[in-house]
Amino acid sequence: MEFIKVEKAYAKHVALIQLNRPKELNALNLKLMGEIRDSLKELDQDDEVRTIIITGNERAFAAGADIKQMAGKGTIDMWKVDQFSTWDQINKTRKPIIAAVSGFALGGGCELAMTCDMMIASETAQFGQPEIKIGVMPGAGGTQRLTKALGKAKAMELVLTGKFISAEEAFGYGLVNRVVPVELYLEEAVKLAKEIATMSPIAVQMAKESVKRSFEVHLEEGLHFERKNFYMLFSANDQKEGMNAFVEKRKPDFKGN
Ligand code: CAA
Repeated sequence: MEFIKVEKAYAKHVALIQLNRPKELNALNLKLMGEIRDSLKELDQDDEVRTIIITGNERAFAAGADIKQMAGKGTIDMWKVDQFSTWDQINKTRKPIIAAVSGFALGGGCELAMTCDMMIASETAQFGQPEIKIGVMPGAGGTQRLTKALGKAKAMELVLTGKFISAEEAFGYGLVNRVVPVELYLEEAVKLAKEIATMSPIAVQMAKESVKRSFEVHLEEGLHFERKNFYMLFSANDQKEGMNAFVEKRKPDFKGN
């Protein structure tokens, strides 16, 4: 990999993807996004991995799509490249993904963090969709996911002015799970990832799928989807293990089958 580092066994059952274009503030060029897509696909298939963390560095999670790569492009170039199909694939990852965010999470960087399932932010993190300042608008889900998290008025303000919000403000809106001192943001993300990794990976993935479904469909259909997944879990050994462990007053040992 040229622009990311991947550690499959960063902690027990936890993989880490680190964006690695520090000089460019981890600007998301096409190759980097392709590398994230490919490694997520591989990690999703690896039974040893149960939770995935995506992070950048202290200064920047990512300062957006690579403006220099896009500057000279026309509509048909953009259509042919179809860069957002990569994002669709990332969004299909079954295992939970935690974004560990410090510094700038702007434009595509904010969108990448929002495509993840949870966010741990350092107190220096800044979130924003500044595309409007360069004559365009968010294209990787910003107008949709930010609006769902922040509500119409605040999302509209950020998208139309390009202003940033702080980690604390993002926490207030429920965009991030928690804010911690900068030296702890990765550690805190690992702690959360490890906790989730002790659960049944099958139940975790079906629960993730069900929560995500609530953003796509109306309540009745969502409840139906949830119920099917709930019933499906009763054909997994992990369900027997989890419930027997409760009855026998011991800790469950989930094997993911
Ligand atoms: N694309 C390409 N290069 C970028 C970049 C980006 N999104 N963001 C930063 N860089 C580069 C800078 O060009 C600079 O490179 P050079 O040293 O070669 O000049 C280097 O990273 C460091 O950046 P700055 O010198 O600008 O650092 P700063 O601390 O003064 O400012 C910043 C930091 C406020 C984040 C500023 O870099 C900035 O405004 N970046 C662009 C943010 C942006 O507009 N993002 C949206 C991109 S479009 C998008 O994401 C579309 C989408 O929906 C997918």
